[in-house]
Formats: sequence, C-alpha cells, structure tokens
Amino acid sequence: MEKHRMNTRGNGYPEGVCQDGECASSTSVLWSKRLELGIERLDQEHRELVAGFSGLLLMLKQRASGEVVRQRFQHCFDLLLEHLRYEEELMVRYHYPRYNQHIMATSDLVKSVFEIGRRLDGQRSSGQLQGRIELAIQEGLFRHIDQVDRPLADYLRLRGMV
Ligand SMILES: [Fe+2]
Repeated sequence: MEKHRMNTRGNGYPEGVCQDGECASSTSVLWSKRLELGIERLDQEHRELVAGFSGLLLMLKQRASGEVVRQRFQHCFDLLLEHLRYEEELMVRYHYPRYNQHIMATSDLVKSVFEIGRRLDGQRSSGQLQGRIELAIQEGLFRHIDQVDRPLADYLRLRGMV
C-alpha cells in the first residue's frame, strides 16, 4: 500500500488531498482555488491531473520502482489526452474563436509532458529530475489552466453554453 493514500471521489481517481497530512510539504504540485474556472467538469479533470502528477512526484521521492512510476506516468498522460480531447470537443461544438491558439498551446503542453516520460525512462530518480518535473508541471499544466483554459471557460460560461 502506498504510504500516502489519496482521497477519491468515487471515480477511482485520486483527489490530491493526502489523508495523513504529510503530502502538503512534499510537492509543490498542489491544487489551489485560484486554478478553478467555474466549470465543473473542467475543474474536476484539472484536479485529477494535478493530483496525478503530484502522486507521481511523491512516488519518485519515495523511490518507488521504475515500473510503478512508469504506470503512474502513463495514467497521468492518458488523463491529460482525454482531458484535451474533451476541451477540443467543447471548442468545436461552441465555435470557440481562439481554437487555433488553444490547440497550439495544448500541443506544447503535451510535448512537455511527453518529455517528462522520456526523462523517466532514461534516468534514475534524482532530486534534479524531480525538480525538473515540478517545474514542467507548474509551467506547463498550471499555465495551461490559468492562461489557456480560463479564456475558454469564460467564453463558455458567459454565453451560458455549459
Ligand atoms: Fe484544461
């Protein structure tokens, strides 16, 4: 059993809140209210992504086996692709005017997360690797939510589309 057990919302995905309270100081990849966009499904999927990557970092810090880490990474990557497909579906359905910019930005995000997987495959866990992953998540995922998804959420919400 993992040392740090995550809460769940009944959907099998971690919530990102550590039950024993030790996780908060263990990783800087944590959900925060400022990341909320006010659209339930987007917020929920973003929380799952943050919790997933936070769990990945904790596994690295706990020196989990390479296979376990690889599985967690694949889970996070699959969640990300599924999430981006949903956003694309929303943009197409509601004729989002900034579709192209959104797709370009998400393409960069996918590349940076893919690069994380490559590094996980090629290196043993180290503090330097963990730091690079934390930075990639903060600059990639958090920026994606705050700067790329927020305008989409505003567009959808202000027009009562979701
Ligand atoms: Fe998103």
